[in-house]
Amino acid sequence: MNRPASGAAVVAVVPAAGSGLRLGAGVPKAFVELVGVPMLVRAVDGLLASTAVDHVVVVVQGDQVGDASALLPGRPVTVVEGGADRTASVAAGLAAIGPDADVVLVHDAARPLTPAGVVERVVGAVRAGAPAVIPVLPVADTIKQVDDAGVVVSTVNRSALRAVQTPQGFRIADLRRAYAGTPDPRTDDAGLVEAIGDPVATVPGDPLAFKVTTAWDLRIAELLIAGATVGAAEPVERIG
Ligand code: CTP
Ligand code: MG
Repeated sequence: MNRPASGAAVVAVVPAAGSGLRLGAGVPKAFVELVGVPMLVRAVDGLLASTAVDHVVVVVQGDQVGDASALLPGRPVTVVEGGADRTASVAAGLAAIGPDADVVLVHDAARPLTPAGVVERVVGAVRAGAPAVIPVLPVADTIKQVDDAGVVVSTVNRSALRAVQTPQGFRIADLRRAYAGTPDPRTDDAGLVEAIGDPVATVPGDPLAFKVTTAWDLRIAELLIAGATVGAAEPVERIG
């Protein structure tokens, strides 16, 4: 099942090697079931459903390579061992990609309801010439900067802020250069591209691409799937 990741034009790296401490499920978050299907499986199948992705490299903790492979039979997937932080895990995924890939996506396993349209928008923008592309949403709440005591220092101009999602898309040579150039861990991959001074473009994200971080997020995801199951046909296909 673990086919090599070469020969594919668009390869997605799915970092799934975190512990899920904030979710507190007692197992790595990617293996937590969401209405009977592990988040990792939902995330991988969402990428493959887009038809924009040829191959997926899943990155898990070392003792879970076999379990992850067993969860993903029949898919064009390679499973590799990750590292101590997200940046190290993505680097391990990048190292497993063969020479024929020209576009790479990096997509959190913890975003199990991401619609195919987001994946397609990101790949389309990279194909159109952008070296790095991230899906973003406007920020709805007023944002304030506070000091160590929690006292407000300033109100940030919300109109220029965006919340960032995944998948993030890159020309693979540019992401490899960014990973080679910046030793510091970052919370997203575009941060490494920014650090070497390359431009990062944006496309519209989607509220359904939210990250499951806490038990609250998991409950929201369950309710969304349950709602889709009793609702209109189109969302059933998409997230049910
Ligand atoms: N991740 C990873 N390797 C790590 C840490 C994180 O592959 N060493 C992955 C997670 O599995 C997740 C994504 O990066 O899919 C986003 O990270 P986050 O939401 O922070 O997940 P966790 O690190 O698992 O959660 P927590 O921070 O609450 O422990
Ligand atoms: Mg984390």
